[in-house]
Amino acid sequence: MVNFDFHAPTHVIFGKDTEKLVGKETAKYGKKALVHFGGGSVKRSGLLDRVIASLQEAGVEVVTLGGVQPNPRLSLVREGIALCKKEGVEVVLAVGGGSTIDSSKAIAVGVKYDGDVWDFHGGDKNGNKPTVTDRLPLGVVLTIPAAGSEMSNSCVITNEDGMLKRGSSGNGNRPDFAIMNPVLTYTLPAYQTACGATDILAHMMERYFTPEKHVDLTDRLLEAGMQTLIKNAPIALAHPEDYGSRAEIMWVSSLAHNDMLSCGRVSDFSSHQIEHELSARYDVAHGAGLAVIFPAWMKYVYKKDVMRFAQFAVRVWGCSMDFENPEFTALEGIGRMEKFFQSIGMPIRLPELGIDDKYLREMADKCKKSNGDGTQGKFTALNSDDIYEIYKLAL
Ligand code: NZQ
Ligand code: ZN
Repeated sequence: MVNFDFHAPTHVIFGKDTEKLVGKETAKYGKKALVHFGGGSVKRSGLLDRVIASLQEAGVEVVTLGGVQPNPRLSLVREGIALCKKEGVEVVLAVGGGSTIDSSKAIAVGVKYDGDVWDFHGGDKNGNKPTVTDRLPLGVVLTIPAAGSEMSNSCVITNEDGMLKRGSSGNGNRPDFAIMNPVLTYTLPAYQTACGATDILAHMMERYFTPEKHVDLTDRLLEAGMQTLIKNAPIALAHPEDYGSRAEIMWVSSLAHNDMLSCGRVSDFSSHQIEHELSARYDVAHGAGLAVIFPAWMKYVYKKDVMRFAQFAVRVWGCSMDFENPEFTALEGIGRMEKFFQSIGMPIRLPELGIDDKYLREMADKCKKSNGDGTQGKFTALNSDDIYEIYKLAL
């Protein structure tokens, strides 16, 4: 087990009707709020009106900014920062999913930063990313369980100039509070429910495939989380208003990515980085991109630790262990995962997303390499050629 420093300060308020508490909760942080939201689902559902009414009732003045797109854009973040400064906003409230939360995180940080907010994502002129040391208070009303941004230390923004999708990470990005009412997810289109489920699973798999050996407790916690997701996603898809399954998915989405399940482990987020190039170039939904990339990544790297992949197959997917040929078990697990993605309506190959081989080399070269030697990943270090091979395996 490696040393760790776990800090997950977000105050979680979970359950039916909890959005009614948003005014009271926000008022603890400021008297004027920016309510930030996406493309309109919160207007259609009536949630936005209810949130604004609750804020006003608690004496919080409201400024609104909608229009966050999936894969949130830097230009809207800049608009939000300017608006907050002009209006003297004291607290930012995200009403939506990962895209809205990330856009809100970047706005909250940017208001308190003298330089360009993109420095936190793309690095400053020397390539260094500053640490978030100050920001406006930040609250969330979550409407889609997926990215885990409601508790995570990460914030992912796309810069239209060069279509660069880049994350910033650090404890300063973790929201102050998150209100999670599973009922708010009843209106999700099936595709978004499935994309969210895939992202949640990916966050747990990226922690599961570790080079660390003594990680029994977190192995078991991750296996429990993955099985919970695998059991409940099909139920929520078949019965969108089933509270129990929606609640299980919502809570596992936060635990999958708030870092509790990676304590003592070394995680490998290569699949996310490889997927981010797809979302940046083709604007595909993040979860759908992951359903395509993850199986390809696994097929490329499983030989590095066949027994870990066999354990994943047995404990998560219920495969029988073939002691004579553990590689067979490992591959069977990957196959069952692909079938699961298909069963919930996810693509598993690039052409299903309308993507051919045209930009694979370019995306592989552009993909962020976070290791000092120009490679990416901790389970196995990947260079641009490896990433190119992974894209080709996804065709
Ligand atoms: O924009 P609106 O109209 O609200 O519609 C959204 C959007 O089209 C819709 N939606 C959300 N809640 C709904 C709803 N529709 C009906 N009823 C509801 N209750 O769903 C669509 C997707 O929303 P989005 O916020 O984009 O989804 P998600 O939560 O998957 O966020 C994806 C973004 O998060 C980033 C991804 O890269 C992507 O940019 N990630 C952020 C992370 C983090 N900050 O920790 C980690 C993740 O790995 C991920 O990279
Ligand atoms: Zn993700």
